[in-house]
Amino acid sequence: LQRNESLSQVAAAVGPVVLIVMDGYGLSKTDAGSAIAAANKPTLDKLFAQHPNIRLRAHGTAVGMPSDEDMGNSEVGHNALGAGQVYAQGAALVADSIASGEIWQGQAWQEIVAAAKAGKASRLHCIGLLSDGNVHSHIDHLKALVRQAKAEGLRSVRVHALIDGRDVPETSALDYVLPFEAFLAELSDADFDARIASGGGRQCITMDRYDANWPMVERGWKTHVLGQGPQFPNAGAAIEGLRQQHPGVIDQDLPEFVIAEQGRPIGTIEDGDAVVLFNFRGDRAIEITRAFEEGASFDKFDRVRAPKVSYAGMLQYDGDLKLPARFLVAPPAIRNTSGEWFSKLGITQFACSETQKFGHVTYFWNGNRSSKFEGETYLEVPSDVVPFEQRPWMKSAEIADAMIAALQSGQHKILRCNFANGDMVGHTGNFRAATMSIEAVDLALGRLLKAVDAAGGVALITADHGNADEMFELDKKSGQPALNKDGSPKAKTAHTLNPVPLILYHRIPGLTLGLKQTAAAGLSNLAATTAALLGYDKHADWDESLLTLA
Ligand code: 3PG
Ligand code: CO
Repeated sequence: LQRNESLSQVAAAVGPVVLIVMDGYGLSKTDAGSAIAAANKPTLDKLFAQHPNIRLRAHGTAVGMPSDEDMGNSEVGHNALGAGQVYAQGAALVADSIASGEIWQGQAWQEIVAAAKAGKASRLHCIGLLSDGNVHSHIDHLKALVRQAKAEGLRSVRVHALIDGRDVPETSALDYVLPFEAFLAELSDADFDARIASGGGRQCITMDRYDANWPMVERGWKTHVLGQGPQFPNAGAAIEGLRQQHPGVIDQDLPEFVIAEQGRPIGTIEDGDAVVLFNFRGDRAIEITRAFEEGASFDKFDRVRAPKVSYAGMLQYDGDLKLPARFLVAPPAIRNTSGEWFSKLGITQFACSETQKFGHVTYFWNGNRSSKFEGETYLEVPSDVVPFEQRPWMKSAEIADAMIAALQSGQHKILRCNFANGDMVGHTGNFRAATMSIEAVDLALGRLLKAVDAAGGVALITADHGNADEMFELDKKSGQPALNKDGSPKAKTAHTLNPVPLILYHRIPGLTLGLKQTAAAGLSNLAATTAALLGYDKHADWDESLLTLA
């Protein structure tokens, strides 16, 4: 990065630069169903009224998703924020690789096929999230795997289906499970037998992240590998049965199920089988991958039985840890991130969040690297292990405390944090709790900005994507909330397609700064904007700075 003379006065006046991500805080077109509009948020109201603020694109192609129909998510959002540039992301890379057939030519897939064929059962297991959310996975990718397994001459496929309802409508499980079971039945014949073998809600089993709740992964292991759990004849019956047994429980929280015949699970994972984790996103794929790949030193839970399988991920989830060793599609090669370049300049950086979003401001921010760059300090505030509608304030106060202390230490030039509330509580579909979650962020923000003032700093306040801004499914035509049969609004748990704010805050006397709204302004403009505040031109790979000088 080169120094920019015309920015030298700004750089001289600016103390620390504080980057604040309000996870799941979008700008909705309507107040209907917005927990943000309903929240009492004096600090944010004042920020929007009195400080420069613009809208950033945070979904679709602006963050490397295949199309503008795709909502944003934390991975692609934090990648864009940290890298300052947009890469074709996992969702697009996998879709392209399947479309071109390249995936099937790769060594990893060939090894999976060879291993399955050499095994006793000629069996491939596919584990992953069964939906078209395109955040962690896409059902079309799974279908392509099953079709190709048949074309390669495998005799059997067992699918271990994690039920979504978090990136897709809250109780949509049967919309995916029933057609998918029909698809498998149609593909099956005397030589090929493909069925769903186990599953459960994604927030109940298997898909934990950032070491927050290993017992979730243990439950998943018991379900998929050992075949332990309540038995049903097929996945459709399992969903219906579990819903009856647990009224009011939404899809993501459904307990585990095992498909069995005459009391015997049809798809335990055995020595000699091949296993593909068809999720492309890493955060919630790493723990179950470790359970499959690690040897006797694995100590997160008692696996009881660790079958000798050939394992592949759809992508490599962690390039530093090489997890997993075998992967079907190469992940985006994210280079020249802001973290790396600020580090090269000797600029100290501090990153903080609570467990649920800790990897977002560290691993995702730095281009899916789990290691730190020189001069970076990380601080993780342990998250509660509870349903977040019960604690919508989450760790906002503690994160603010940590950021304030870090500012007061005077040791960091760039500080970044993520407030998880709007997203994690937004995902519960609980409107009232989501409103409180935004109020908690507002309170924390008010305290944090005082410390920014005391340090003579500047804050850039933004978000990675929307969520709490739309807590009801909106009718596409009227824009009004869609209703349940009983007249109540239909809860929406997924992210939104809305833009997010970028607010520039400071109270440094004599300094007038602004932000320019461009048509393309998006999350990837943050890195260059940060560099400008520090007196540097952007890296050649980064999208432009949005900072304006008076
Ligand atoms: C999740 O993993 O919780 C959701 O699928 C996406 O949420 P995030 O992208 O905000 O983490
Ligand atoms: Co989210």
